[in-house]
Parts: sequence; C-alpha cells; structure tokens
Amino acid sequence: MLTPLKAKSEGKLAKQICKVVLDHFEKQYSKELGDTWNTVREILTSPSCWQYAVLLNRFNYPFELEKDLHLKGYHTLFQESLPNYPKSMKCYLSRTPGRIPSERHQVGNLKKYYLLNAASLLPVLALELRDGEKVLDLCAAPGGKSIALLQCACPGYLQCNEYDSLRFRWLRQTLESFIPQPLINVIKVSELDGRKMGDAQPEMFDKMLVDAPCSNDRSWLFSSDSQKASCRISQRRKLPLLQIELLRSAIKALRPGGILVYSTCTLSKAENQDVISEILNSHSNMMPVDIKGIARTCSQDFTFAPTGQECGLLVIPDKGKAWGPMYVAKLKKSWSTGKW
Ligand SMILES: C[S@@+](CC[C@H](N)C(=O)[O-])C[C@H]1O[C@@H](n2cnc3c(N)ncnc32)[C@H](O)[C@@H]1O
Repeated sequence: MLTPLKAKSEGKLAKQICKVVLDHFEKQYSKELGDTWNTVREILTSPSCWQYAVLLNRFNYPFELEKDLHLKGYHTLFQESLPNYPKSMKCYLSRTPGRIPSERHQVGNLKKYYLLNAASLLPVLALELRDGEKVLDLCAAPGGKSIALLQCACPGYLQCNEYDSLRFRWLRQTLESFIPQPLINVIKVSELDGRKMGDAQPEMFDKMLVDAPCSNDRSWLFSSDSQKASCRISQRRKLPLLQIELLRSAIKALRPGGILVYSTCTLSKAENQDVISEILNSHSNMMPVDIKGIARTCSQDFTFAPTGQECGLLVIPDKGKAWGPMYVAKLKKSWSTGKW
C-alpha cells in the first residue's frame, strides 16, 4: 500500500514515497549515519532537489549545447584539478536542481549527451583506464558507466556484461546509441553470470569494474508496489553474499598488477565497507589503494561521509550537492594465487 506521504516534487504527478522502505532505511541509516541521515533523507525524498549531470559524448560532440550549458551556469566536473583526469571526458554540473530534457534516439545519429548522477563518474575515474587496456564491466546495464569509460580512453578490449536478459537488451541499445561502429568492434557484450566469469576468463583483464547489484536507495524509496518492496527488503540481507561472489570472480579474472573498482548506489555499510573488508581479509593478494585524494579534489561538488577506509569513499546527497548515494572502493591485485 502506498502512503499518502507525497514526495516534495514540482512535477504534476508527484512520485510517492514507499513507507515500508522509508521506515526500514530510517532504522538502519539513522544508526549508521547519525544526524547526517536527516539531511540525506530530506534530499532523497525530495525529487525536486535532485540534480542531473550532463556527460557529453565525445563521439558526437555537442558544441552548441556546451555553449548553452556555460550560459546556464553549469561548470565542468574536476577540470584540471584531478591528476590523471582524462581531458576527453567532459561532464557538466549545475549547483541548482533540475535537468535538461533527455535526448531521443534517432536512427543513424549518435546521441550527444547522457544524463546521470555525477557521483557515478567516481568509480569510472578511480579505474584510471588507459588506451589499449583490457577492461571488464562486470554488471553493465543500462550502460552508463560503460559509456563513461569510453569517454576516458580507447581500450584495447572492453567486455560489457549483464546477466538479466531484459537489461542486457537495454545495455546493447545504450552502446549502439552512443558509440560509433568502428569502436563497437572492440566491445564484446555478454549475457553471463558474473559469478562465473573468473573461472571462464582467468587473469585476462587489466582493469575491472564491479558496479554491483545493490539496494538502490533512491529507486527503492519510490517503489510503486509495496508488496514487492517488502519482499526486496526481506531479500536484502542476501545482497552482500552476491556482491562478495561477484568480487571473487572479478579478482580471478584480473591479471596480477590489475586494478579493481567496486561500487554501489546504496548507503548500506553491509553492502559497502563490510563487503570490501571481507574481500581484503580473505584475499592476501588484494591491496587497498588510497583514493582519499579524489575526495579532497572534488569536495566542492560532492559531500562525503567517513567510511573508516582509505580505499573507500561514500558520497552522500546534500543540499546543493544532491549526488549519490555512491560507494567506491579501489583495490589492486598484487600477485596470482594460481589456483585456477
Ligand atoms: C547497479 S546495476 C549496474 C549499473 C551500470 N553499471 C550502469 O552504470 O549503468 C547492477 C547490474 O547488475 C546486474 N546483475 C545482477 N546479478 C548479476 C550477475 N550475477 N552477474 C552479472 N550482472 C548481474 C543487474 O541486473 C544490474 O543490471
């Protein structure tokens, strides 16, 4: 049952907040985040405060739109300030809420921009993709991070994988509407269980993105079917196991010296810090990589909550910085265990 509680939206049809989910989050996050949760809850339940970043497509560059964004007061994320920031990736943010309209796909024309939560770029940037590298996006649909990866560099090989068949089709469509044909040829799109890929392709990749299935806080709060929402909540405790299994497989598929980035769009400590601690405790060949520098560089645009980890960042939605939730952790594989 939906509660009469209305999200504070300016839209004619205000989204409704699912009370079952809100109550559940309230219990957990007020414990985990303390008073910070009050602000986070206010933003998450007020779609009228939400912000949308504009990622320009370097394969069909929108010069006019870029001028227009400047005039509208948008600024670029990270420009010049983050060491190793790929100049080819341009993402515009505004400090005020709202969004420009999404673009319709026209056959034969690549889309010019992608609207996204700016915090989703942090895992992509943390990966530091270089030209020629072999990269696996293990849980890729609908494809936002794959598109962003291709704005940063030209990989020698990119595999975009998605297990769910409907979402797999969505992923294909996203790639086709942003990426030119010659580049599509270096991309393999697969529909496999990510938990099995390590055994199938051991030590094949230089870089690995595990943007894991998680309790997606923003969308769960607006579940339209509260029975389904209750079911999700009761299944929620199984997610860390799935996330750990995906990471174990990803580690197998990573070459020694390779980099793995793990991300989720939940605030939940059990799916974030605890998952990464479990991986570090059970894999002596996986080393944490300090990414606090990223947080220092972009503290004007993002608000971070403490994670107690040097290798893990948590972006929390804040007033005027309504980005996240997004957890990002970076690990390096130091040697092969040769067990496969
Ligand atoms: C957070 S979403 C990925 C979002 C995507 N990276 C993006 O930026 O657009 C997680 C995805 O993992 C997929 N997934 C769930 N279980 C999986 C599995 N065992 N193997 C691979 N993908 C899986 C889900 O269907 C979902 O599409």
